[in-house]
Amino acid sequence: MRIFAIAFIFKFVLAVTADSAPRCRCTPDRSCWPSDEQWQALNNSVSGRLTSIQPVAWVCHDPTFNNATCQNLTAINTNSLWRRAQPGAVQMINWESWLPVNQSCYFETPRSVPCGQGKISKYSVVAESVEDIQSAVRFATAHNLRLVIKNSGHDYLGRSTAPESLQIATFKLNDIEFSDDFVPQGAADGKSVGSTITIGAGAVLFEIYAALLTKGKIAVLGSSYTVGAAGGYVQGGGHSPIGSWKGMGSDNAIEFDVVTAEGDLITVNEYQNTDLFWAFRGGGGGTFGVVTRATLRTFDEAPMVVAQINISALASENTNYWPAVATFSSYVPRLEDENCSGYYFMLPNLTFPGLGQISAVAAVILCAERSNTTEVEDLLKPMLDPIRKMAGITVSLQSTAYPKTVPAVTGLLSGGADTTGNIVILGSRLISRELLLSEDGPTRLTNALSQLPAGDTEPFIGHFVAGGQVARNGDQVRSALNPAWRRTAVHLVWTRSWAPGASREDVQAIENQLTHQEVPIFSGLEPGMGAYLNEADANEADFQESFWGPNYARLRTIKQEWDPTGLFITRKGVGSEDWDDAGLCRLTEKRIRP
Ligand SMILES: Cc1cc2nc3c(=O)[nH]c(=O)nc-3n(C[C@H](O)[C@H](O)[C@H](O)COP(=O)(O)OP(=O)(O)OC[C@H]3O[C@@H](n4cnc5c(N)ncnc54)[C@H](O)[C@@H]3O)c2cc1C
Ligand SMILES: *[C@@H]1O[C@H](CO)[C@@H](O)[C@H](O)[C@H]1NC(C)=O
Ligand SMILES: *[C@@H]1O[C@H](CO)[C@@H](O)[C@H](O)[C@H]1NC(C)=O
Ligand SMILES: *[C@@H]1O[C@H](CO)[C@@H](O)[C@H](O)[C@H]1NC(C)=O
Ligand SMILES: *[C@@H]1O[C@H](CO)[C@@H](O)[C@H](O)[C@H]1NC(C)=O
Ligand SMILES: *[C@@H]1O[C@H](CO)[C@@H](O)[C@H](O)[C@H]1NC(C)=O
Ligand SMILES: *[C@@H]1O[C@H](CO)[C@@H](O)[C@H](O)[C@H]1NC(C)=O
Ligand SMILES: *[C@@H]1O[C@H](CO)[C@@H](O)[C@H](O)[C@H]1NC(C)=O
Ligand SMILES: *[C@@H]1O[C@H](CO)[C@@H](O)[C@H](O)[C@H]1NC(C)=O
Repeated sequence: MRIFAIAFIFKFVLAVTADSAPRCRCTPDRSCWPSDEQWQALNNSVSGRLTSIQPVAWVCHDPTFNNATCQNLTAINTNSLWRRAQPGAVQMINWESWLPVNQSCYFETPRSVPCGQGKISKYSVVAESVEDIQSAVRFATAHNLRLVIKNSGHDYLGRSTAPESLQIATFKLNDIEFSDDFVPQGAADGKSVGSTITIGAGAVLFEIYAALLTKGKIAVLGSSYTVGAAGGYVQGGGHSPIGSWKGMGSDNAIEFDVVTAEGDLITVNEYQNTDLFWAFRGGGGGTFGVVTRATLRTFDEAPMVVAQINISALASENTNYWPAVATFSSYVPRLEDENCSGYYFMLPNLTFPGLGQISAVAAVILCAERSNTTEVEDLLKPMLDPIRKMAGITVSLQSTAYPKTVPAVTGLLSGGADTTGNIVILGSRLISRELLLSEDGPTRLTNALSQLPAGDTEPFIGHFVAGGQVARNGDQVRSALNPAWRRTAVHLVWTRSWAPGASREDVQAIENQLTHQEVPIFSGLEPGMGAYLNEADANEADFQESFWGPNYARLRTIKQEWDPTGLFITRKGVGSEDWDDAGLCRLTEKRIRP
């Protein structure tokens, strides 16, 4: 009873202290904003690595227009490597704009349109050490600043920009180390987990794949050049072209070094800070602390067969197009059982040079631990034979054997960088194995797909990156990852866009159509499945349930314990419901306790 009373009083005191915290962050228009001297002190503590930031396109607008520089930057505007290294840019330019206050700065709009700061941070600490990150975190806490972590800047939900904020940029922290015998810190028994790769916060996929190749190892990573591995990718779950074979990225994370909201550096693994270890594997980036480095499991290289399939029909005689897609979809769970993962791009209305409008599926299938193309083609026969028999449908198949997995995976990428600098929002849904294996499930899926408007450059993308080991890890890995992943066969995504400079009303109409018309078609198809938090509608309704299902309540408790003031807030992240969309002001005076 007595213990209870003390605990109660303690909780009460904590709550009162927190409630008296300011409701809004300090912004440049307020007297609490740090003085030039204070910024200079921060700059000194980070060895001169503080920069004040303008949006990258500011040289293309009056009064700061500079023709030569503007021409130069316009030429590399869509290069993801360049965008990664610019504190004044992210990859998807819609997250650089702040439409509610009418601030944006595009390369594409006329020189006479003024350049607005938008959601680009005011200052950035371009970190080169853990101490730089600690200084930035402590400064943000001391001055009640909006803090944002930018790694590659690829986030589709706008989590790597925030207006009026201090940014921590991680792109220079890209060290990579291997171990054949990694012992997690604090492992009581000194037990090794085997071979691992330890990467700095800013290492991105092409760097990591190159290192793995020289070492003869594989790791569960994504399909891109410049997505980071230790940031949003692994913390959000991380799907992979070897997912069906080896599980999710987060299933294979062994240890994180983390700077907490207090500014302390701690190690998080299955032996220490285990609540955070649970949260960092699927709880979402930017929410629980700054990861300075991450250790991921590696596997020995193995051969892989990659099959590419084109299925096409003239759009005028496409009555068999959706049945072909349904047949393909129904076979996906079988492929995943065979350690094959892949992607299928559905384009029901594609303008094809010389042919006019066609309906097409382009698929790439990666089968792990295989070296015989005939064997893989035999595996695909039960799927492709019935499609080949459909009137008006043409199928082509080409398979290639690779002696190693890493070149097979990186061979899918081309161009040396991702093409970004565009405006894109996504709709998405996790589709269960159960649905695709049910009698009418595949047809119900294609009926839903056929209701969506289909543009030339906006394919529906089926990522079959689950099943297999992702499903089996449901019993083996305890983490914050949305449990719906364990039942998933396909992560379905589609894209929407608008032109730079479109009015706020036009943008809202497109967003509303996606959130209120398109996504519900799929959430209605399979209530309870949810969506992948890294590749989902930026305005996802009931995001807590969609992204984490039953894990949300515990995530909120852990967030409250490690970050009671909400220093690490991201759009549609854990705890973000307490804040406005920009993360600048709390919505409620009184804290909602978990
Ligand atoms: C071209 C492309 C291909 C993709 N391919 C895949 C794929 O194959 N598989 C897949 O699962 N996903 C894929 N994604 C989605 C990707 O996982 C997300 O965009 C993810 O958020 C990227 O993480 P990032 O750290 O690189 O990006 P950022 O936008 O810089 O960061 C994302 C989030 O993580 C936070 N964060 C970044 N670094 C840290 C850190 N060190 N500590 C704490 N928080 C941090 C940020 O604050 C932000 O909230 C792809 C995206 C694109 C654009
Ligand atoms: C921080 O210091 C460096 C080195 O002295 C300087 O180049 C930079 O402009 C300073 N940053 C700010 C924001 O003043
Ligand atoms: C900018 O430079 C380009 C290429 O050199 C030139 O064609 C254009 O006329 C210049 N524009 C202005 C406004 O100077
Ligand atoms: C533009 O790019 C060229 C070639 O990379 C370079 O030589 C030149 O200095 C750049 N000009 C400006 C103003 O940045
Ligand atoms: C937004 O800003 C632009 C450029 O400054 C201006 O032309 C436009 O009138 C503004 N729109 C609104 C709704 O304020
Ligand atoms: C899938 O991979 C696992 C792990 O390597 C292996 O044990 C299993 O036999 C493979 N399954 C098939 C069907 O090849
Ligand atoms: C298909 O695309 C063409 C060309 O963009 C367009 O005219 C036509 O309306 C589209 N058809 C459908 C069914 O969307
Ligand atoms: C490849 O698989 C086919 C079909 O299973 C088999 O007939 C053939 O012998 C295999 N080739 C090799 C080189 O193993
Ligand atoms: C599929 O179509 C694309 C685009 O026309 C082409 O580049 C590719 O080689 C085709 N693949 C197969 C297997 O036919």
